[in-house]
Amino acid sequence: MRVSFVCLGNICRSPMAAAVMIHRAAEAGVSVEVDSAGTAGYHVGEPADPRTAAELRRRGVALDHAARQFRAADFARFDLVLAMDHANAASLRRLAPTDEDAGKVRLLREFDPAGDGLEVPDPYYGGEDGFREVFDMVDAACLGLLETLRTP
Ligand code: 4NP
Repeated sequence: MRVSFVCLGNICRSPMAAAVMIHRAAEAGVSVEVDSAGTAGYHVGEPADPRTAAELRRRGVALDHAARQFRAADFARFDLVLAMDHANAASLRRLAPTDEDAGKVRLLREFDPAGDGLEVPDPYYGGEDGFREVFDMVDAACLGLLETLRTP
């Protein structure tokens, strides 16, 4: 299974989701290839936002990240392309070279069985609380995703 997590800038939400997924998959002994990217290119080459890095450190989750933009050719490399919000999902579906590729695009929070909302809200312009909430959302969704990967 190869999964790419996608947000807008690839510095806040999707690097956090990718780091959490790597952590949870290792814990569960599940083999999964994990990537993250942004639909926009504003921050290409930059490390994760310091607030994402701080929250991951606080939770004991390792981070190794340089931002990149999701490209049409990337669809061929992944089985699932998990968008953080509806706008990211719409951008990805527009970019998808084929209908099959467009079908790989899902919202990450669809995998949280207890999820009370479908989007991971953009924390960029808010405070540190937003990053704590994003962590909890992506963690719950990654655990749900792992469950679906373990269930044949
Ligand atoms: P992300 O957050 O999509 O979760 O990485 C953002 C990062 C940067 C910007 C917007 C959202 N920006 O407008 O630069």
